Amino acid sequence: MTPLIETVTLRADLDTRAITLAAEYLNRGDIVALPTETVYGLAGDALRPGAVAKIFAIKERPYFDPLIVHIADRGWLPRLTTHTPENAAILAALLDRYWPGPLTILFQRTILVPDLVTAGRETVAIRCPRHPVFHAVLRMFGNPIAAPSANRFGRISPTRAEHVNDELNGRVPLILDSGPTPVGIESTIIQLVQNRIEILRAGPISIEELSNFAPVIERNRANEILAAGQTASHYAPKTKMSWFQPSRLPKEPSGLICWGVVHHREHFSKVASLSEQRNLAEAATRLFGLMRQMDEAGLEHIFVDPVPEQGIGRAIMNRLKRAIAAHSSDSTF
Ligand code: TXA
Ligand code: MG
Repeated sequence: MTPLIETVTLRADLDTRAITLAAEYLNRGDIVALPTETVYGLAGDALRPGAVAKIFAIKERPYFDPLIVHIADRGWLPRLTTHTPENAAILAALLDRYWPGPLTILFQRTILVPDLVTAGRETVAIRCPRHPVFHAVLRMFGNPIAAPSANRFGRISPTRAEHVNDELNGRVPLILDSGPTPVGIESTIIQLVQNRIEILRAGPISIEELSNFAPVIERNRANEILAAGQTASHYAPKTKMSWFQPSRLPKEPSGLICWGVVHHREHFSKVASLSEQRNLAEAATRLFGLMRQMDEAGLEHIFVDPVPEQGIGRAIMNRLKRAIAAHSSDSTF
């Protein structure tokens, strides 16, 4: 592990010096935690292998798991990626509609992108974030920023600066706090193949929306990771998680994460709702925070209601299925 250092948290939206300070750290090859519209990210200079290596060490992330490169505008694309004329029209339409925003796209990379960033792959994942603080740091720093979610490997993504502090205190010098992240779930990751859109990670930009641009296919990337000998233990609270079933009320101290109005309160030590009004966007903003709260409440089991698998609901269900699979004996799904 990297030696412990002092971690300072600054409110970025109130103090523009915080942005300057973050850019200075990045210039020195150091790593800082920054808000994006999806989740907080652990940011380093994407073009400097030494900085990228620090991100992997701080996060305890295995080197085979590649990082997303964040850019201030699409002007960087010709330098980082090779042009693929076959998908150019769809790409242009997607960029016009969703950049800046929570859509990450895989491209063929140029040699400017270090091997460490892409874990040796020929593709690089690129995203142009919409968050004003991340954007301001990108502009001031000037280079692309590599940034995975600012949690330790396999843990729940942070949607508040306090979550980042819980995960990485003593490992990063600076956390920029901009309050809760407005979207709450990691970006949608896609790849364009022969004028079709392949979804590699479900996210805030839904299949329904993307199908307005081209035919969409879902690829189960979990299989790819399993093929590399890994388990699907992502997004996992330490506490066991299961779907709520009225026929299986717990005897041990348990929590319940509800969809809609809270129910069965008398059977649980802690209950909370993802969204009382059954609003999926609100549920996305609350999901990771509630999983964390439940995880820290000293419970033996967390139960959760499924949400409708439509729009951003698919991304929510994808994260819940992974969290549940992490604790089941059969972790394939
Ligand atoms: O919203 C987000 O995307 C956040 C914020 C911080 O931008 N970032 C994020 O990064 O979620 P991370 O590293 O936690 O997840 C990125 C995922 C990983 O599962 C990684 O395997 C995949 O993207 N990925 C990155 N580059 C890839 C590539 N070249 N091919 C396939 N998958 C890739
Ligand atoms: Mg992550």
